[in-house]
Amino acid sequence: MSNITYDYINDYIREITPESLGILGRIEREAKETDLPIIQKEVARLISVLLSVKKPKKILEIGTAVGYSAILMSNYLQEGGKLITIERYDIMQNAAKENIKEAGLEDTISLIEKDAEEVLPILDDSFDVIFLDGAKGQYNNFLPHCLRLLKKDGLLIADNVLHKGTVAKLRYDIPRRQRTIHKRMRSFLWEITHNSDLETCVLPIGDGVAVCHKK
Ligand SMILES: C[S@@+](CC[C@H](N)C(=O)[O-])C[C@H]1O[C@@H](n2cnc3c(N)ncnc32)[C@H](O)[C@@H]1O
Repeated sequence: MSNITYDYINDYIREITPESLGILGRIEREAKETDLPIIQKEVARLISVLLSVKKPKKILEIGTAVGYSAILMSNYLQEGGKLITIERYDIMQNAAKENIKEAGLEDTISLIEKDAEEVLPILDDSFDVIFLDGAKGQYNNFLPHCLRLLKKDGLLIADNVLHKGTVAKLRYDIPRRQRTIHKRMRSFLWEITHNSDLETCVLPIGDGVAVCHKK
């Protein structure tokens, strides 16, 4: 059960969405069988549409996992464009490296094998698109860095912002162990919806996606 939208609506949207081909299709099948953390199909479609309009030259991703979304987003880079992705967990780093190599994208995607907490404060670059998909409790800390690194007219896309719907519930209606993440995600959402430099929408698809345009 999605807890964000109705299952029959999700099922229908997935039914009419064509299967991904090649390496993306293979990773999607593996993710289904083994619980690999990759973006949901609806989120992949949303990102594809946004990026095909934006045509970015540089993308930053926080949270590579096995490289699925990095490979997907690379399809929408301008010629000669680059994607930097950050992953802190070695098993994921190794799987991502293999997938990026198999996709023939070693010259396009640079994997930084570190914690984003260490990398973001010293990253001196600028990006057309930033995809935030790391640990949900850290979004708040990462936000000032993302805003500094995002070009004017750039897009910040953040996944899992409704955290199985719990973020929209009252604090006292969720288990005590989820209250810290609830508080941090609410504060992140408040910040991006009230920042005068951003035009933001929060979409109830997948696990909740926020899209912000830097004015
Ligand atoms: C939901 S998965 C990312 C999925 C990926 N974007 C995709 O759709 O293919 C989140 C990943 O972020 C990594 N991660 C979480 N916090 C991180 C951090 N602070 N720095 C770097 N990687 C982090 C986790 O190890 C995990 O592999």
